[in-house]
Amino acid sequence: MQPEITLSIEVVAPSDVPALYNLLRASNLPIDGLSTHLTDTLVAKANGLVVGSAALERYGHSALLRSVAVAEPLRGTGLGRQLVESAFDLARRQRVQRLYLLTETAAEWFPRFGFVPAERSAVDPAVQASIEFTSACPDSAQAMKKDLMNLGES
Ligand SMILES: CC(C)(COP(=O)(O)OP(=O)(O)OC[C@H]1O[C@@H](n2cnc3c(N)ncnc32)[C@H](O)[C@@H]1OP(=O)(O)O)[C@@H](O)C(=O)NCCC(=O)NCCS
Repeated sequence: MQPEITLSIEVVAPSDVPALYNLLRASNLPIDGLSTHLTDTLVAKANGLVVGSAALERYGHSALLRSVAVAEPLRGTGLGRQLVESAFDLARRQRVQRLYLLTETAAEWFPRFGFVPAERSAVDPAVQASIEFTSACPDSAQAMKKDLMNLGES
């Protein structure tokens, strides 16, 4: 019989930040700039261990979705989707209207959540000024956007 796994998705606790950073490093994602957005950073925990993450950097009615990662053994189980949808819920609660992201590895994955490619120059200037845009992500990273206008829309 498989042992039962208790999964939760919650705002990262200070004691889980080192494990979060380890997950991001293992997933080849940047950590730069995240420390000032930890109150909008979600982690998935399985039996108390950090196994996934998704974070928002909020800039008024816009936000950058970043640090979406799932620990390798749990990839392909739907946890990535749960994290992205939890980040959407968090964004809606905070009246965010438009989400942006930069990705080098998952430009084929995010369209299933309604993201479409965007020119960097068309991104909200406040988001363009973020550390991810200015230095942490290479110029080759694809910018994407999604409107979050309606409650109930996914
Ligand atoms: C991208 C990532 C978060 C997806 O997490 P996950 O838990 O595997 O995702 P889900 O289980 O919800 O979805 C699995 C589906 O997405 C697809 N998928 C997963 N990663 C993908 C990627 N990088 N590109 C395209 N499709 C991808 C799988 O093939 C699978 O497809 P299916 O539903 O047709 O079978 C995870 O692979 C990861 O942590 N990658 C490293 C970090 C990263 O690249 N993050 C995104 C940039 S911020």
